[in-house]
Formats: sequence, structure tokens, C-alpha cells
Amino acid sequence: REIFLKDYKMPDYLFDTVDLKFELGEENTIVSSKIAVYPRAAGVSCPLVLHGSELKLLSIKIDGKELKKEEFHVDHRHLTLPSPPVGAFTLEIVTEIYPQKNTSLEGLYKSSGNFCTQCEAEGFRKITFSQDRPDVMARYTCRIEADKNLYPVLLSNGNLIEQGNLEGGKHYALWEDPFKKPSYLFALVAGQLECRDDKFVTRSGREVTLRIWTPSEDVPKTAHAMYSLKAAMKWDEEVFGLEYDLDLFNIVAVPDFNMGAMENKSLNIFNSKLVLALPETATDGDYAAILGVIGHEYFHNWTGNRVTCRDWFQLSLKEGLTVFRDQEFSSDMGSRTVKRIVDVSRLRNFQFPQDAGPMAHPVRPHSYIKMDNFYTVTVYEKGAEVVRMYKTLLGSSGFRKGMDLYFKRHDGQAVTCEDFFAAMRDANDADMSNFLLWYSQAGTPQVKVTSFHDPDAKTYSLKFSQEVPSTPGQPVKEPMFIPVAIGLLDSSGKDMPLTGVYHDGMLQTISLPDQPVYTTVLRVTKKEEEFKFANIPERPIPSLLRGYSAPVRLDSDLTDSDLFFLLAHDSDEFNRWEAGQILARKLMLSLVDDFQQNKSLSLNLKFIEGIRSILCNSSLDKEFIAKAITLPGEGEIMDMMAVADPDAVHAVRSFIKKQIALSLKEDLLSTVTNSRSSDPYVFDHHNMARRALKNTSLAYLASLDDPELTNLALDEYKSATNMTDQFAALAAIAQNPGQVRDDVLSDFYTKWRHDFLVVNKWFALQAMSDIPGNVANVQKLLSHPAFDLRNPNKVYSLIGGFCGSHVNFHAKDGSGYKFLGEVVLQLDKINPQVASRMVSAFSRWRRYDEHRQALAKAQLEMIVSANGLSENVYEIASKSLASC
Ligand code: ARG
Ligand code: ZN
Repeated sequence: REIFLKDYKMPDYLFDTVDLKFELGEENTIVSSKIAVYPRAAGVSCPLVLHGSELKLLSIKIDGKELKKEEFHVDHRHLTLPSPPVGAFTLEIVTEIYPQKNTSLEGLYKSSGNFCTQCEAEGFRKITFSQDRPDVMARYTCRIEADKNLYPVLLSNGNLIEQGNLEGGKHYALWEDPFKKPSYLFALVAGQLECRDDKFVTRSGREVTLRIWTPSEDVPKTAHAMYSLKAAMKWDEEVFGLEYDLDLFNIVAVPDFNMGAMENKSLNIFNSKLVLALPETATDGDYAAILGVIGHEYFHNWTGNRVTCRDWFQLSLKEGLTVFRDQEFSSDMGSRTVKRIVDVSRLRNFQFPQDAGPMAHPVRPHSYIKMDNFYTVTVYEKGAEVVRMYKTLLGSSGFRKGMDLYFKRHDGQAVTCEDFFAAMRDANDADMSNFLLWYSQAGTPQVKVTSFHDPDAKTYSLKFSQEVPSTPGQPVKEPMFIPVAIGLLDSSGKDMPLTGVYHDGMLQTISLPDQPVYTTVLRVTKKEEEFKFANIPERPIPSLLRGYSAPVRLDSDLTDSDLFFLLAHDSDEFNRWEAGQILARKLMLSLVDDFQQNKSLSLNLKFIEGIRSILCNSSLDKEFIAKAITLPGEGEIMDMMAVADPDAVHAVRSFIKKQIALSLKEDLLSTVTNSRSSDPYVFDHHNMARRALKNTSLAYLASLDDPELTNLALDEYKSATNMTDQFAALAAIAQNPGQVRDDVLSDFYTKWRHDFLVVNKWFALQAMSDIPGNVANVQKLLSHPAFDLRNPNKVYSLIGGFCGSHVNFHAKDGSGYKFLGEVVLQLDKINPQVASRMVSAFSRWRRYDEHRQALAKAQLEMIVSANGLSENVYEIASKSLASC
């Protein structure tokens, strides 16, 4: 059953208030709901259809009167009232549910003995019958009753307005959320939890109580999350003028959670791994992820909750925008360049492949079978790039004006991507041309640039052409509106002032001589288009797509020496990194060719020297250096090949790594020694950068499998005082099979077996390993006492980690495919959302050689033909098999 955007209809009935009562028990939970229903248009009478699944209906009343059997109809997914009263009425429904048995982690479920909920996108219908769609917004109250000893803490959205004891050792709490909200933002938590308490005073003087809830032993691990929350609250006031709107903000950390976190109004629920951190247990990467996700969920209070989505096709309206906001927040808290590099790498490694495969979909999808399958890198990350392009085109203050108008127009509403677009356009009186195509056309645009300098006319011309590849259901595309930020470097490496550009036969002024401009944004909107810069006396080196101003694949006529020049001089640090990456990608592709032709591999000295000059440049930021000396991922290279060859790409990447390590051994060694510190762990850019560079250097050195260097890594492992350094040393050692590796892995487990989040890292490290034949080890870890197929984090670490090793997952003998195929079917019975995320690893099977294709296809066919398959897995597997 596929659902289409074009079929959207406004609801016939709206809800004014929803009053819920939960009687939480050990066997079952009774949910009573009382809904004030009214018709959207007065006088209409038509059936009222409520969503509901896996519910046992106990009773149903209208205006206090129990309905007779013939007055309603229940099927697997709905409760239908064929002829409800004309005008407003009260609907009372009582259902029985079984949270203890709910392993899907959707709706109301138990995690480590505590009750919690996950309703987005369509989980509320597993709690009670409702119009479970985001354009039905209501004011909620929630009364929770439970055993006082087992569930001392009872939380829901909004304000606590009453609480007290009940007979039989029970107690209750009554919560009221004054803001209208869709059902997907409802939340309930009940359990044995303790909190870290803090407060934040908003700009206008509201004193907000902040609480982060965890099992008592974990409270000490919430300091960084609390710091992140306060920083996010302050940042949103400063950058967007947005303040928190209630007196209480709760965060709860739960160990069993399908996704990262959820922005339920005033009661955010988080996967523990995105809340809990101590220097000894969490890495810099974990600290950064916590900062970003705490920010993300908090920012949803305005972009998602106050203004929500009309329907789920509009998901990027809130997610693309909120990812953009969290990216900006993290940038401002750390290094903007490095954050941009991380985000663009993520886009290239995960979103580009999706956009080029059978699951390619626009930022606003046209259809879905299971909405949960569309919480994707396209909706989130490409969606964030689309929001970033508004800012690039309108400037910071123009973007802010657009945001202000968006809230002014739509506060309290459920709206669409066009509404956001219109606010941006209208606030700036801007011509946004065909910008909306970014929401409707899938596929990564391919942009080509050729350049020409005319010394006599002193002009420099850039000719652009663009092509958007066909994607499933979209064979033909139109040209997109692509903002290309650009600067021109002179022969000394300085930015040239840009004064004017000829376009469509007109000269557009960029700047006057007394206010030089060094970066301008070209608006490329046609299939082919020329821009000609005026007053360019010498042939410049162009710095194209500065800051990665549009999510496209760019091909230019820059030579290697142009790229080395940009790597050394570009004032746009992102493009400095990019120049190095383009060089590395070219080099890797050409060595892959050599490898496939059985030629011996050899490395261009100029490349090594380029890396050395970055490594030894003390004026550069250390985290930037760490990024710049890191080779593009294997996936990125395979993505650029006609037929992906994981063995060749892996061999080449390892070869280059070792060559760099060998040639730069002394520099790398001194980097490691000079970057040590005995100071206590601090999460700040300076220290993270230092650790990143040290640990990147250590990984290079350890890749040589030289006993002396392995010992160096062992010393780092033993002397580490924080998880960042300890885990990096462990990972460095684990690159090479052997006794040292086995010993240090088991030492690590013994040390950390009591901490499930650290144990997950240990699973992931082994699972992701490129060691030949690793599938057997992963298979063995499936029955490790610490592993549990019901916990999503463990599955993502072990199964997801394994699929991240290209050589092992795509092993020629099909062992990796077989392993995944079997696990997916097992998982699907427990948790379809998690199974569906895992089965996605198969989706790009057509990219490989015929032999691998046949093996992967056989697994997909086995999966789609399995009895009782979930819609989640069915959608991904069947779309993967369909020819596109
Ligand atoms: N809205 C949440 C976030 O991005 C994610 C919810 C995901 N839910 C799902 N069923 N996939 O912050
Ligand atoms: Zn989100």
C-alpha cells in the first residue's frame, strides 16, 4: 500500500483537546482517551476514520453514550465511525495495549524496566485510536497512573499540574501541554530515574528548569549533555531570536531506541549514547555528536513543534531546516571549516550513493509505503544543503528575515515546503527562479565547468553545463538553480578583487574599487550558461563552489598543478581541503586502474610532498590538518567507478596509506610526540584538534605493522587517560591481525565490560574491520553474552559495522551477503525499523560485478519471498530489486 503526496486531503474532522489516561501495569496498560472532535467545515457529515494498530478496543462512547456494534467498524488499521453526530462531539475510547511485548520500540514500550514512547512518524496509533497525522493538532493532557515503587517518576509533555498517591501502592501525575501539537510529539516516560537539575534564564527573563533523566548511576555522565543544552538555548536566542516557551524542559536517556533522539514537546527522549559521556568513556566524536543532537532536538521546538509539517512528505521542512541549524550551532561552537568538511564528507559517502541508487528520492518524496523508511540522508542532509543554499543566496541577514517571516506567518500551523520557500522569497523580495526543483527532483546534479582567459579583453570566462541523472520514476530532469560561490586567485595565491561579471549580455557590478569583494555567488540556472569576469588581467586559478555552496558533483578543467596551488593557497579553507581530496580521488582512481590491470602500484612524489607540506604547516589548524591528510573513503571512490571493485579500491587505499606512513614516518612520529598532553580531558576545539592530529598520525604509523610502531601504539593505549586516545590507539593496533591485536581487544573488553556503550564501540571496531574473512568473527560475536539482537545500538554496531567493511561485506564468496540476509529475517520479526535499516546495505547491489550481483540478488529475493515480512523491509528490498 503506497501513499502519494498528490492524494493529500485536508482532514474532515479536527481535534480541539485530547485527554489521555494511562494505567500502566505489568501485564497490560489501559489507555483511555477523551477527544473533543469538531468538523473542519460546519455542517458536514461524513465518516470519521481513526488510525489504530495492534490495539484491543475495550469501549467507545460518543457524548457519554456507549456505541452499539453496528455504529462503528474496526479493522487491522482503522476504527471507522460511519455516521458521527453533525457538529462538535466528544469521543471516548478505551484500549488495552501490551508495552512489555513491544519489541518494535514504536508506540509505548519498555526499555530496561522503564516505560517510554516513540510516536514519530506513525507510532501514536499503536497507543490509542486517533487521527495520527501531523495536520491534526490538539491540546493534550495526560494522566499517568502506576506503581509508585516501580515507577516513581512519571513524565509527559508540558506542565505538571497535579500529582498524588492512589490506593494499592500507586500514584499518579497529571500533565498539561498548553501548546497545540500533532500526535507524533506526544510522549510519556515512567520509571526509576534520577535527574541532573539545572536552570536557564531566557533573554526575556523566563526561568526554565532543565532536567536530564537517567538511571541513577548514569547521572554523573550527563554534565556534557546539560552544557550542550544550555549552549543550544543561548545560541538559538542569539542567532535566531528564538526563546524557549515553557518553564520546564526534560530530556530522558533510554538504552533501547531506534534512532538518535526525538523532539517531543518539552520531553525529548534520547538514545543513551547521545546523552551519556565521561572523558574516560566517550570519545571526542561522541562529545561532538551529543552537542549536535542535543542542539538538534532543542531547535525542533521552533522548527518542527511550533511550526510543524502538514504531512509526512514535508518531513524535510523540519528535518532539513533543523539539521542546518544544528550544523550551524556546532560550527559556531567549534571550527566552521572542519564542521563543513565533516558534513560534506557525510553527504558524499552516504547521500550521493542513495541519490544514485534504487532508493533515490527527492528531498520531498512523492510516495512511500512506510514513512519510517524516509528518515534518510536525503531528507536530512541534502535537505539541510537546500536550506543552506537559501542562506548562500540571500545572505545571513536575508536568511534571518526569511526565518522571522516564516514564524510570523506560520506559528501554530502545520505547513509545507512551499510555505518555507515563500517566506524566504517574500521577506527578501527575491527572485528564486526554479529553486523549488530542489524539493522535487531526485539525483545529484553533475556540473561541468570550463574556463578561458582572454588577456586582451582582460576577461575570464567560466562555462557551466549541468545534467541531473535520471532516478526511479524520474527519467527526464530540468536544469536546477545552482548557487556557485567563487573566488579567483592570482599567481601569488591571493584573492583577486571581483568587480563585475558579464552574464546574458549584461554587465553586473559586483563591487566598487573601494569595497573589494573576493567571493561572489553565481546563479547557474540553465543547462548551459556562461559567466565572464571583467578586469582580470592575468589567468587566475578559480576557487569553485567555495564552502561547497551547492550539493552537486563538480567537474572542472583544473589541472593537477592548479589543484596543488589551491591546496597551498586558497583563502577558502574548505576548498583547500577539497583540492587535496580531488587530487586524492584522481590518484586513487588511476591506481585502481593499474591494480585491475595487474600493474605494480607506485605513488606520485608530488602527492606525498603535498601531504607533507600540510602536515608540517604549523600555521594550519590541527583538526584541519587531520582532515586534509585523510584519504577519501572507499565508498566515495567506488561511487565514481563504472563497476565498483571493493578489493581494488581497498588495496589501493591501503597501499597509499602505507606509502604515506613510510615516506612521512619521521614527521608523523614527531607529530605524535608533540601532540601528547598530560592535562585532564577538555572538550574544546584546541584539544580536540590536537588529539585528532595525533591519532590520525598514529593510525598511519601503525598501518605499517612494524613492531616498533605497534609498540608506540600500545604505549599510547596504556597511557591514555581518556577514551578518545585509548580507543584511537586500540583502533590503530587493530588494523593488523595477530596476537597483539587479540590481546589488546580482550584487555579492552575486560576493562569495559560493565559499560554497554563502550562495549558497543568494541563490537563496532571488530565488525568494521577489513581483516580478511572477518565474517566468521562477526558471526561469532552474534552469540557473545553482551550482544542482543533486540537492542538497536548493538545491531547498528555489529551488523551495521560489518556492512561498513566493503571488502568483507562484498566478499566474493557471498559470505557477507548470506550473513546479512539471514540476520535481516531474524531482526524483522523483532524490530522492522531496525531490520529495514540493515537491509538497505543491499540496495546498491547493481553497482558490483555480475558474480556479486547474482549473490546479492539471491539474498534480496530470499528476503522478499519470506513469510510475514514487514512493510518496512518489503519496501526497501522490493525497490532494490526493481529495475530502475
Ligand atoms: N524527529 C527525530 C529527529 O530527527 C527522528 C524521529 C525518527 N523516527 C522514525 N520513526 N524514523 O530528531
Ligand atoms: Zn530532527
